[in-house]
Amino acid sequence: MSKPVSIAVVGSGYVGLVAAACFAEMGHRVVCVDNDESKVKMLREGGVPIHEDYLPELLGRYRNQGVEFTTDLSTAAKEAQVIFIAVGTPQSQTGSADLSYVDAVASEIARSIDSYKVIVEKSTVPVYTNEWVRRVIERNGVSKELFDVASNPEFLREGTAVIDFLHADRIVLGTDSEKAAALLQEVYAPLSSGSYYRSSTAVPGMRGESDPPPVLLTSTKAAELIKHASNAFLAMKISFINVVANICEAVGADIEEVAKGIGTDTRIGPRFLSAGIGYGGSCFPKDVAAFRYVSEQLGMEFELLSEVEKINTEQKARFFRKVRSALWTFRGKRIGVLGLAFKGGTDDIRESPALDIVKQLLHEGSTVSAFDPAAMDRTREVIPESAQMRYVGDAYAAANEADALLILTDWQEFRELDLARLHYTLRYPIIIDGRNLFEPSAMAERGFTYLSVGRPPAQQTRDAAVGHRLP
Ligand code: UDX
Repeated sequence: MSKPVSIAVVGSGYVGLVAAACFAEMGHRVVCVDNDESKVKMLREGGVPIHEDYLPELLGRYRNQGVEFTTDLSTAAKEAQVIFIAVGTPQSQTGSADLSYVDAVASEIARSIDSYKVIVEKSTVPVYTNEWVRRVIERNGVSKELFDVASNPEFLREGTAVIDFLHADRIVLGTDSEKAAALLQEVYAPLSSGSYYRSSTAVPGMRGESDPPPVLLTSTKAAELIKHASNAFLAMKISFINVVANICEAVGADIEEVAKGIGTDTRIGPRFLSAGIGYGGSCFPKDVAAFRYVSEQLGMEFELLSEVEKINTEQKARFFRKVRSALWTFRGKRIGVLGLAFKGGTDDIRESPALDIVKQLLHEGSTVSAFDPAAMDRTREVIPESAQMRYVGDAYAAANEADALLILTDWQEFRELDLARLHYTLRYPIIIDGRNLFEPSAMAERGFTYLSVGRPPAQQTRDAAVGHRLP
């Protein structure tokens, strides 16, 4: 049995909250700190501020019995052996990460240190942040023997964060101190030894056969770079496949066949090769920009990353041109939109390509009827409801009397739509799919004009084409 460790997690955002719940699930005692009093109150009373599978179950199980919530950083830091910093590192004007929250938290932790602590950076931060945290703590008069710093980046995807945490591909522990490395290995021992996967208390769905994740012990700087380089590489994979998709369109080949042919090479791998309207979310755009900035500061132009960003922006513009080519003009047209979130399975709209496309449609004078299973409330805050912008209750209402239907997010439930009903509901049976959810030939057989990304449109049979609205 591994020993429980006393842990403080500073920041109860997406990363902090998932980490706190998962550390408790691994048998540790966790105090989760946030300076937002209303959030702490909500968490204490059983609320869960983010939409994440398994998180309500874990918090329900461990609230006050493994995880506590507080605004009192000083007491939490005093009582913990390991303090994880998981506060936001938003993008600043220059593209660099704004580290002022990390700085403030490090100073406050420093003022509470009276016994040995490991202070671990968990947010995505540029290389050298650990070094700064160490300096800030020393400047506050804490002696070197009383603390070590470390970097333990997370690789969680929104929507599957709990599973990604407990069934990680790898655990990266970056520290230049053996004492800190030993303590952090204790924290992760339930996963790395495999004991967690054999325990009978594991959340259903988390149990069962799972290879224990390897622990990679690295220097702090290497760990910081691993996080930025991983996200930049994945973003590059997406931009790469998007350009290949555009080439497929030019020559009449199918990107799905090409992606499969590339991805079955084990050196490349099949994942993150889905062509579409580009990547969004709270990580990739910010991390690619931050990594590019870091390299610039070090005197290197990482032009490959500038190109990744350029392709991502162009991919949305290209999709919009595709819509234009199908509709000719926009003013006065009614467009149905399926999907607003940056990807399926989340209510997050940060940097969502869908929102850029909706804004462009509105700018060009179209009326939009949009539906998203989870992200409509958040989108309303950015694009208020109006006569021109309507939020509707389901996909069929979005399609109702529309001149075309656009698919902008890869929600699983969109794949299961009743196509005959959609066909009947639309004014014209035109679907422009930015996420390749359907088979072009099947859509043509049903009488749709169906345009997608990187796949040749199938020819409609004449009967299907004229059959619109016939019973
Ligand atoms: C990402 C990383 O995957 C994760 O490791 C990191 O910790 C945080 O950032 P997330 O932002 O939750 O996770 O989303 P992800 O599932 O990676 O998708 C990012 C974007 O890329 C989405 O907009 C998605 O639609 C797009 N995408 C992804 C593609 O366009 N094609 C793909 O093949 C994969």
